[in-house]
Amino acid sequence: MAKFLLELSSVFLFLLIPLSSQLDEVFFPGFKGAGTNLTLNRAAVIQKNGILQLTNQTNRLVGHAFYSSPFQFKNSSSGKVFSFSASFALVTVPVFYKLGGHGLAFTIATSKDPKGLPSQYLGLLNSSDLGNLSNHLFAVEFDTVQDFEFGDINDNHVGIDLNSLVSNKSETAGYYTDDSGVTRKDLNLSGGTPIMTWVDYDSAANLLTVTLSASSTKPRKPLLSFPVDLSPILEDYMYIGFSASTGLLSSSHYILGWSFKINGPARSLDLSSLPQLPGPKKSPTKLIIGVTVPVVLITLSAVAIGVYLYRKIKNADIIEAWELEIGPHRYSYQELKKATRGFKDRELLGQGGFGRVYKGTLPSSKTQVAVKRISHESKQGLREFVSEIASIGRLRHRNLVQLFGWCRRGGDLLLVYDYMANGSLDKYLFDQPETILTWEQRFKIINGVASALLYLHEGYEQVVIHRDVKASNVLLDNEMNGRLGDFGLARLYEHGANPSTTRVVGTLGYLAPELPRTGKATPSSDVYAFGALMLEVVCGRRPIEPKALPEELVLVDWVWDKYREARLLEVVDPKLNGEYDEEEVVMVLKLGLICCNDVPNSRPSMKHLVMFLEGEVELPESLKKPGGGNSQNHEGFDEFLFNSFASSSYGKMSASSDTGTHFPSFNTTSPHSLLHARGETR
Ligand SMILES: *[C@@H]1O[C@H](CO)[C@@H](O)[C@H](O)[C@H]1NC(C)=O
Ligand SMILES: *[C@@H]1O[C@H](CO)[C@@H](O)[C@H](O)[C@H]1NC(C)=O
Ligand SMILES: *[C@@H]1O[C@H](CO)[C@@H](O)[C@H](O)[C@H]1NC(C)=O
Ligand SMILES: *[C@@H]1O[C@H](CO)[C@@H](O)[C@H](O)[C@H]1NC(C)=O
Ligand SMILES: *[C@@H]1O[C@H](CO)[C@@H](O)[C@H](O)[C@H]1NC(C)=O
Ligand SMILES: *[C@@H]1O[C@H](CO)[C@@H](O)[C@H](O)[C@H]1NC(C)=O
Ligand SMILES: *[C@@H]1O[C@H](CO)[C@@H](O)[C@H](O)[C@H]1NC(C)=O
Repeated sequence: MAKFLLELSSVFLFLLIPLSSQLDEVFFPGFKGAGTNLTLNRAAVIQKNGILQLTNQTNRLVGHAFYSSPFQFKNSSSGKVFSFSASFALVTVPVFYKLGGHGLAFTIATSKDPKGLPSQYLGLLNSSDLGNLSNHLFAVEFDTVQDFEFGDINDNHVGIDLNSLVSNKSETAGYYTDDSGVTRKDLNLSGGTPIMTWVDYDSAANLLTVTLSASSTKPRKPLLSFPVDLSPILEDYMYIGFSASTGLLSSSHYILGWSFKINGPARSLDLSSLPQLPGPKKSPTKLIIGVTVPVVLITLSAVAIGVYLYRKIKNADIIEAWELEIGPHRYSYQELKKATRGFKDRELLGQGGFGRVYKGTLPSSKTQVAVKRISHESKQGLREFVSEIASIGRLRHRNLVQLFGWCRRGGDLLLVYDYMANGSLDKYLFDQPETILTWEQRFKIINGVASALLYLHEGYEQVVIHRDVKASNVLLDNEMNGRLGDFGLARLYEHGANPSTTRVVGTLGYLAPELPRTGKATPSSDVYAFGALMLEVVCGRRPIEPKALPEELVLVDWVWDKYREARLLEVVDPKLNGEYDEEEVVMVLKLGLICCNDVPNSRPSMKHLVMFLEGEVELPESLKKPGGGNSQNHEGFDEFLFNSFASSSYGKMSASSDTGTHFPSFNTTSPHSLLHARGETR
C-alpha cells in the first residue's frame, strides 16, 4: 500500500513538470559519441571502445566527467528536491594485484569541475572545506583505501557522503541475494570486474538507497538505506557525474555505462551489451607462470649471471626479493635522480641529522617532492626499517607530511615526501626570522601538530611514536598549516650498526628526562617534546638557549619562574608586539608546563591535550610545580590533576574518555618496536 502511494505520488509530481524542453534524463549505454554531452576534466578520457576512463594508474590524479548542462533538482517554489534515480556500471583496476588506490564517486555538485584534491579527497573537496554546509555536495563513494581521518570502516566500502568525506552511512561493498536481507555476498571493489550500481532517491519518503550487484539484475534489498531530506543539500540546479582519484596507491577507474532520470526510474543497463574492458592487465607473476619452464630456467640463469656481473661492476639499483614484497610505492633510482637533477647541491633544501633533503619534480606526474637521502651502514636494520616505512606510508592525516614512496640503492635509502612550500617552523621562530608568524598562525600550527600526534598515538590501528618532535620537524604547507614530518625516522638511528646498543634519539631540550635512563620512547615522551615545542612557539626561542642569561638558559625553568612570579606574559615572544589572544597564550604556556613534567605518568595524553586546546575542558587557574626542585610546593602533579578533574570539568572529560580520575599511564613499550600493537599499551 505504501509502495502504491509512493508510486502514485511520483506520478503526480511527474505530471506537474513540463515534459517538453526540460532536461531530465541521461542514457549512455557506453560512451561512444558522448563527448559532446559530457565535460571531461583532468585525467578523464573517453576511450575508443566507448569506455569512460576517469583515472589511469598514475599516482595522485583526479578525473572528472560531468554532464555538460545542469539538471533542475528542485521546484524552486516548494524548495523540495525531486526524486531521482541513477544506474551505472563501474570497474576499478588496481596497479598492483592486491592494492587499489583511492576511489570513485557518483556526484551531484554545484560545479562540473569541483576543485578537489586527489587521494582521500576523491577529487571533490579539500581539508578546509570538508563538511562545510555551503559545499552543496552529494556523493556516493566507492572507496578502496581506509582513511582513519575520515573514519572509513575498511578498504572496500560504499558510503553516502553529504558535504563531507566522512560518510553519513557506509557499508562493506556487497549485495543481498534474498529479499529478507539474510544472505549477503561481498563484492570486491578493486577486483577488476564490473559492478552494477543503483542510486535511488525517493523524495516523498525522504529515503536514499544504494544497491550493488555483480550482474544486471537489481537485488530487491538495497545495500544502504539512508533516510534523509536532500533539500538542504542540493540547490535548484546541479551538475551530475563522476569524480575519481588516485593517491600513493593507484587504480584505473572506469565507467562502462550510465543512466539517470529525474522523477522516474533510470532506464536499465544491460551489462552484456556495455563495452567491455580488454581483460585486466596480467600481474608479473601470472606472466611468468604463462611462460614455459625451459625458457624460465634459461632466463633465470642468464639473469643470475647478469645480476652477479652487474653487481660486481657497480653497486647499482639492485632490487632484492624482499623489496618487491614491501609494496608498490617503490620509485626507481633513475626517476629520483632525474627528479632532483642528479642530487645537485642547487636542489638541496636542507641537511639534518638524518641526511640531506633535495627538492625535486617527479618526471611522470610533475609533482613537487622533497627527497630525503639517508645513508645507512647496516643492511639488516635497513630491511626492517623499510618494511616499517611501508606501513608508515599508509598513515594519512592532513597534519602529517605525506610519504609518497621510497627507493633503496646500496646502503642509501631515499624517501619521497610531499613538498612543503614554506619550509620548517624553526626558521620562523628563532634568531632573526624574515617572516614573523602571527599568533593566529602559531596557534593553528600548535593545534595541527597536536592533532597529528593524537592520530599517531591513538588514531591508527597501531600506536606510532614519533620520537623526534621539534620545531625543525614541523613543516609548513602553503596555507601555513603545521605538518609533522620525519615520523619514524628516529627508529633507524636507534639501531646502530651494533644491534645490542640502543642509542637514544631525540634532541636536547625536547628529550624527556626519563629517556636517557630507560631508553624507551613512549607516547608520553612525545608529549614532553610537544610541551617544549608549545613553549618555543609562544616564546620564540629554543628550549635551551646558550646565548641567554643563566637563569633563562632552560626555557621550561624560566617559564616556571615567571609563572610563579605571576609575570607569565613576560615570556611571550617580543616579536609578536603584544598582538595576541591573552587567554590562548596563557593556556598554551600552561599546557607546555604540564607536558614538560618530569614524571611521565603525570603528563596528559594527546587526547586530553586536544580537548584542552579545543576548549572542551578548561585548565585550572593555578598550577603547582611538580616534583620539588627549588619549589616550595612538594605536592605531586597527580594531585593537581586529581583536584582539577574532580571539580567541574571532570564530568565533561569523563564523557569521552574512559581513563578515570588520573591521566592514563603508559606501560613502557619496547624500544625495538616503532609500531606497537594497540593491546599492548593498555
Ligand atoms: C513547482 O510547484 C508549483 C506548485 O507547488 C507548480 O505550480 C509549478 O508548476 C512547479 N514548477 C516546476 C518547474 O515544477
Ligand atoms: C546530447 O545532447 C543533445 C542536445 O542537448 C541531445 O539532443 C541528446 O539527446 C543528448 N544525448 C544524450 C545521450 O544525452
Ligand atoms: C595518465 O593521465 C595523466 C593525466 O591526464 C597523463 O599526464 C599521463 O600521461 C597518463 N598516463 C598514462 C600512462 O596514460
Ligand atoms: C579483491 O581482488 C583482488 C584482486 O583479485 C584480491 O587480491 C583481493 O584480495 C580482493 N579483496 C577482497 C577484499 O576480496
Ligand atoms: C578548498 O576549496 C575551496 C573551495 O573550492 C577553496 O576556496 C579553497 O581555496 C581550497 N583550499 C585549498 C587548500 O585548496
Ligand atoms: C564555508 O564556506 C564558506 C564559503 O566558502 C565560507 O565563507 C565559510 O567560512 C565556511 N565555513 C566554515 C565553517 O568553514
Ligand atoms: C552527515 O554527516 C555530517 C558529518 O560528517 C553531519 O554534519 C551531517 O549533519 C550529516 N547529515 C545528515 C543528513 O545526517
